[in-house]
Formats: sequence, structure tokens, C-alpha cells
Amino acid sequence: MFTAVTSVPSVVMRVYPDDCDAFGHVNQAAFLRMFERARWEVLAVGPGMEAFRRSKTWPAVRKSTVEYTAEAFPGDVLQYDTTLTHLGRTSFSLHQTARREADGVIVAEADSVFVCVGETGRPSAVPVEIRNFFGTRPSVRAGAVQHLLVRDVATAVDVQGDGPAILFVHGFPLDRTMWRHLVAPLTGWQRIAPDLRGMGLSDVPQSGRYSMAEYADDLAALLAKLEVEETVICGLSMGGYIALEFVRRYRSMVRALILTNTRAEADTPEGKAGRDEMAQLVEREGAGALADVLLPKLLSPSSLSAMPQVVEHVRTMITGSPVAGLIGALTAMKDRPDSTPSLQQIDVPTLVVTGREDLLIPVEHSRTMADAIPGAQCTVIPEAGHLTPMEQPIATSRVIGEFLEALG
Ligand code: MLT
Repeated sequence: MFTAVTSVPSVVMRVYPDDCDAFGHVNQAAFLRMFERARWEVLAVGPGMEAFRRSKTWPAVRKSTVEYTAEAFPGDVLQYDTTLTHLGRTSFSLHQTARREADGVIVAEADSVFVCVGETGRPSAVPVEIRNFFGTRPSVRAGAVQHLLVRDVATAVDVQGDGPAILFVHGFPLDRTMWRHLVAPLTGWQRIAPDLRGMGLSDVPQSGRYSMAEYADDLAALLAKLEVEETVICGLSMGGYIALEFVRRYRSMVRALILTNTRAEADTPEGKAGRDEMAQLVEREGAGALADVLLPKLLSPSSLSAMPQVVEHVRTMITGSPVAGLIGALTAMKDRPDSTPSLQQIDVPTLVVTGREDLLIPVEHSRTMADAIPGAQCTVIPEAGHLTPMEQPIATSRVIGEFLEALG
């Protein structure tokens, strides 16, 4: 069975003006303080603030790192979740997330290592009360990457939440982290976001082992590993090509389909030639060369100028992609079948989502695809390009949330 997440109670705290810098953002020192206060609050609602004093032990912080993922401003209400990630005899580690209550976006994450010290300053055992409070076993933290062996490929996957499953399939040349902000508000669902073979942190099989069928078979095997029998599948662009293949091969596992910024047609002859050129570029100059070529096509002009953190995230995903995996994906896309004839056979609830400024797959393609799928609905999100779920995560999440709710 897949390791369950067993977090201690959440606490909620408001951001005050004195937590913020001159520009109104929560500042670094304040975040350290807020994470620390959240830990004491957790202790207060758990075994009580006196738990350490009672056992004449003090949890000394040996190391603490904070990663900022979004801005937070005065008045924001943040929910702090705490998970034990390591438990030794005298030390333990905690992972904390601060999530904006209003929209579920994670604004910061902290990892801290504690050593319990006694009155003489020597390491002493973690108090039993504290062990019992956290449970004896450290848990896989919410959203933490796991590595599962799937069809002989070590596959990185984030699994978050409980409930019916929804599988998120990323595009090219991206990875599972592209869904990070979109999935946060979709509580009540088990959100599964893997790195496809050869991408992100997953293993990179050698050439010849990449096709839409291989990707779809990987996903079915991953779901079997996670004991998921039925799922909603949501794919962006190349992830959509894979989702369409998945529906053909594993119809009985599909509860509903979400296709974002994708198309049903196969590559044109010019498109195929473009794939070969891109593969040569990557082979010659590495993944970094792709970032400059692709960024202006993937993001809308407004995202490019106004969302530096999204630009940076996309660049990081592209430059971190293994060359063999990129070439494998380019081959798989070049050789992918035309899914147009099978659209009218899709008999699961389907949502098509795209960005009004998608330069790679114009809005008309999405509308035509939705028209060909019986009963499909199509939503066009403004101020978004080809990476709509990253550029407009709140709006996209809302549209997806409403679709999921209607599934009953
Ligand atoms: C993607 O975002 O997955 C790619 O743009 C798909 C493609 O190149 O056809």
C-alpha cells in the first residue's frame, strides 16, 4: 500500500503589516518567525506547550530553510501544515507549508532539523510525548516527490490529498511541478502528478522506448502501483496527446477527461521536420538552447513581462530536462497517431481548456476538438498562452473544480 500522509493538526495565522517589507511582501525574517510560531501553535493544540519542559529537553533548531513560492501580503490568512519527515533517537525533521486560505496557493515551505538537548546541552532522546504525537513513523509529506519503479523506470511522482483520483500529465519539455499551484485548491481529490519517462526527475530510458503508447502504458502501471482503479485524466499539450492515447487503451480506467492547450491532429510534414530540427539543436547545444526558443512561444506576452517567477520556473524545467528524454519525447510526438477519428467515440465527460493567447495551438483548434467530442465543454481563459494552468492557475483551477464537482 502507498504510504499515507499523517500530518499533525493545521494552524491558521494572519499576516500583519509588521511582517512585511517596504513593498508589502512578507519578509524573510518574518517567515522564519511565523513558521516557528506555527510549530508552537501545533504543540499547543497537541500535547501542550510544556511537553518539552516536562521531559527536561529542548528542541534546538540545527538547520532551517525556507523556500518562497508566492507572495503574501498583510491581511492574508495562511494555513500552516506540519509533517514529520524524519525521526531519529535524538533528532527529528519537520516539513511545513504555508498556504493562502483564500485560494489554496502555497506561499512558502520550510524544512527544519531539530536536535533535542538536555540541561547540559548534550543530545537527549526525543520525548515520548512528542513521538506519540507525530506517530511512530515519519510520513511522506504532502506533495513530496516519491520514486516508484514503474515498468522498470524509476518514476518521480507527487501524490497529494485523499479522495477520487485525478492524474495530471505534463507537457513538453516540462515536468510534474508545472501543476503545483493549480492542484493546491483541488482538495477532496487524490492529485497524482508524475514526471513522464525521460523528463524531470524520472529515469531516462535509452532511445527507442518513447511513444504515446509507452507513456500511456507507464501511466496505467503507475496507477496500478498506487492502487487507483479509476481516474480523471488531465493532460496539457503533449500530456493531452498522451491522455487521448490513454482513453483509447484504458477506457475502463477513465472517469473523465480534461484536455488543456492540446490538439487531436498528428504532426504535419512541416511539423515533423521541425521536430527533427529541434532534436538536432538539443543534441548539439543541450537543453538550455531550447529555453530561449520555446519560452516566447509557451507563455503569453503579458506572462513573459509580468510573471518573472513563472518564466523562471518554465526555464528551470526546460534546462533541467535530460537530453535523451527530450529527444525521445520529440520522436514520440513526431510519430504520434492522429486522434481526430477517435474523438467522436469518447464517451466520458470531457472538458477542453485553453488560453486565449495560445500561440502554439490556436483557440480554434480547441473549439473544433471540443465540438467533435460528444457533450464536451470548452473554456477559453483570458490572459494566458500555451501554459494556461501555470499562467492562470486560480482561474484554471476554478474551471476544473467546477467540472469535477459536476461529475458528482
Ligand atoms: C507541449 O507543450 O507539450 C508541446 O508544445 C507540444 C508540441 O510541441 O506539440
